[in-house]
Amino acid sequence: MAVSTLSLLLCVLASCLPNFVEADSAWNGHTTPQSTTPSAFLPYYVPLGAKSYDSTSPLILYSAGWEEIHSKAYVGNSLQQTDKVGAYVTFPFQGCGIEWFGSCDRSHGVSHVYVDGLLVRKVDSWCNSEKGRKQQRIFWDYNLSGGKHTIRIINTSKRPGSTHSCLTSLDAFVVTKCSATAQVYSAPSAQPFDYSGSTLAEGRAVETWSLEQKGSTGVHAMQLAVISPTHALIVDKVEHNPLTTPDGHPAWGALYNLKTHAVKPLSMKSNSFCAGGTFLRNGTMIVVGGNPVVEDKTAAADFGDTDGLQAIRLFHPCPSSSASGCDIYENSDRIRMASPRWYTTVVRIPDGTAMIIGGSKKGGWINNATVNNPTIEYFPPKSIHGSNGMPIGLPFLQDTLNSNLFPIAFVLPDGNVFMAANNDAMIYNWKDNTERRLPQLPNRVRVTYPMTGTALMLPLSPTNGYQPEVLLCGGSTIVDTNPGYEISSQDPASKQCSRMVLTDAGIAAGWVTEEMPEARLMPDAVLLPTGEVLIVNGAGSGISGYGNVLNQVGASNADNPVLTPVIYTPSAPQGSRFSSAGLPRSQIPRMYHSVATLVPDGRIMIAGSNPNLDRSEVKYGTEYRVEWLSPPYMGKPRPQIKNGPKQLDFGKTEVFTIRLPPQVQDKADIKVVLMDFGYVTHAVHANSRMVYLTSQISADGTKATVTGPPNGMVYPPGPGWLFVVVDGVPSIAHHLMVGDGEDPEVDEKALKNVLQHTSPNQYEDSKSGSGEE
Ligand SMILES: *[C@@H]1O[C@H](CO)[C@@H](O)[C@H](O)[C@H]1NC(C)=O
Ligand SMILES: *[C@@H]1O[C@H](CO)[C@@H](O)[C@H](O)[C@H]1NC(C)=O
Ligand SMILES: *[C@@H]1O[C@H](CO)[C@@H](O)[C@H](O)[C@H]1NC(C)=O
Ligand SMILES: *[C@@H]1O[C@H](CO)[C@@H](O)[C@H](O)[C@H]1NC(C)=O
Repeated sequence: MAVSTLSLLLCVLASCLPNFVEADSAWNGHTTPQSTTPSAFLPYYVPLGAKSYDSTSPLILYSAGWEEIHSKAYVGNSLQQTDKVGAYVTFPFQGCGIEWFGSCDRSHGVSHVYVDGLLVRKVDSWCNSEKGRKQQRIFWDYNLSGGKHTIRIINTSKRPGSTHSCLTSLDAFVVTKCSATAQVYSAPSAQPFDYSGSTLAEGRAVETWSLEQKGSTGVHAMQLAVISPTHALIVDKVEHNPLTTPDGHPAWGALYNLKTHAVKPLSMKSNSFCAGGTFLRNGTMIVVGGNPVVEDKTAAADFGDTDGLQAIRLFHPCPSSSASGCDIYENSDRIRMASPRWYTTVVRIPDGTAMIIGGSKKGGWINNATVNNPTIEYFPPKSIHGSNGMPIGLPFLQDTLNSNLFPIAFVLPDGNVFMAANNDAMIYNWKDNTERRLPQLPNRVRVTYPMTGTALMLPLSPTNGYQPEVLLCGGSTIVDTNPGYEISSQDPASKQCSRMVLTDAGIAAGWVTEEMPEARLMPDAVLLPTGEVLIVNGAGSGISGYGNVLNQVGASNADNPVLTPVIYTPSAPQGSRFSSAGLPRSQIPRMYHSVATLVPDGRIMIAGSNPNLDRSEVKYGTEYRVEWLSPPYMGKPRPQIKNGPKQLDFGKTEVFTIRLPPQVQDKADIKVVLMDFGYVTHAVHANSRMVYLTSQISADGTKATVTGPPNGMVYPPGPGWLFVVVDGVPSIAHHLMVGDGEDPEVDEKALKNVLQHTSPNQYEDSKSGSGEE
């Protein structure tokens, strides 16, 4: 009895204080790169290009009641603290962001933080640490406009439930500049485009788009996927992000609230640098592959990360509108890939499993024969083609070296998989394990990393029998056997878009090329519910990656950010498909590691940019700011989906309660579309998809009778978003499960074989010479 009471008590305590119980000893890290002496992790970090102001700086103005204490444990060997109610500190600064570092322990309490006279947060710097933790990031805000600001911290000397007076302490402020913001770029090698020219859609009315900057991702947004009506999943690599996990080290994954802009750190284990991802048939998302631990900069000792090269991270459906209880699950002993993969593409195939394509066996830059992993594998693993769950060779991935990482892949409506890599394309029949090679992309344009272009499969429609057509845009003609020292950040990107219908006749007719108004490397192509394609982000010159070409800008291998999005209308006549009329120009360069996705309300979320090894404030710095692009339809009366089923099975008919906008004509053009917003990283919009559904609208306009897609080849089973689009104006999306929502089939024999015959640490094993390679 006594024992169980005790354990109950411990349990209650632990659940009240999940973050802080034994916090000092639980963080089994060491702080200095390559150091072997464990100590607590110190969040204090000054990114390249940012400026730190020690607590003794004459620019920091203290009220009465502060005392200075000295210890080597503090930044600059000193700290200011106060326990006087109403004592305050004021710091005028110039920049876009401010971080306040100080100590936390059981004697600290709540302070009020004012920025430019407005109370922005009440911060509690209490933590359940006896010795106290130093150099903690107590507060940060990167969402300031460039210019002069003042931060004031006022001590309340209180904390909930405590009658003692509490401390506030200041160790240092770190000011982040507006590294690449608010400067207008001229683009020497990218020709300015004359938007009044004849290649624009004739007579198209200039409609009102708007661009709003709001919110901060907390972890850099390298990978982005909308996971629910309220949240997006953001995945980064291990680096000094300001968002901190409950156990006190920088986070490298987060859930972003699309409505409140709040960010919640995820507790990821392995380094997810350059992972890929997809939802499965049952709605669980997998985030696959990554990078080893980067010892010299962001060592495991500091961050607690593990090698992510073989990782399969599970993120289960997260219906909670506050994302409570949602986190990433990882256990490499139980769930992992058979082989290491960095820069792998993951697509959901018609049976609702994931096909994991290519990548390289270790981190680096451009692919080569030594590190190439020219295979596919499946999750859950399959016993097909004699593989027993092990990787299956794909000659295409050998023939497309060197520029073939993050291959482009889309499931076609006949169940086969279109792939493009480097300058080539093919259709893979995964059931027969055969490749059908397609004509090379015209004009030697390469479209995959590091000559990164972007691609989409255009909307599928029953009116033409779901005839598939792909669109590939941007990239580069840089020769991919050239070493980095012969490539420059100023080498021009490609303007080319290549389009092909993937039927026998279409393939015989070959690629049709068009030119974007501006050349782009690393663009993002986003399908809109109107059937148009938004092309945004990217650079006018250079190559993907950082730190290894001529004329780097900071560490960026690319330059000349392209700041104006362009709309591509696939159904318009050739020559009049591009338009930037009315599209706002951004102030924020979105270079390597930028992302963009459609969100359920119809806007486009734009985030990221980080051509750096670790967080940096030097142009092109690490970008945390989010932008929201609103198409003209956002300002119009919108149709609504008021009610509908949570599931839409193949070929089944369901009724949705809708409301059409007022003044809709009898002859209104009403469409119902099903979309997958995809998993976005490195300009790869894997799983992005749009399918027109067969539907009927009741005479009174209140019911839409909708038939699910015919099968899992047209829309692989998994989550989807349904829009009703009236005269080009979409509703807010309705989230549902397409198919049966069941777990994908698990082949126990193949799974067991993978776990038995592969080590979870093949990269580490290979380094020590004991591996299989
Ligand atoms: C904050 O106010 C409390 C309450 O008077 C006081 O005990 C504490 O010393 C003050 N702290 C600072 C840093 O002024
Ligand atoms: C971020 O800053 C912008 C521009 O100053 C402002 O409009 C927006 O409300 C801010 N958002 C947040 C979440 O603070
Ligand atoms: C192949 O790529 C790896 C990783 O970038 C690199 O370490 C290695 O030197 C390259 N090998 C050759 C032969 O270029
Ligand atoms: C979905 O299926 C995968 C693969 O079998 C499995 O690992 C995962 O746990 C399932 N998700 C849920 C929520 O059961």
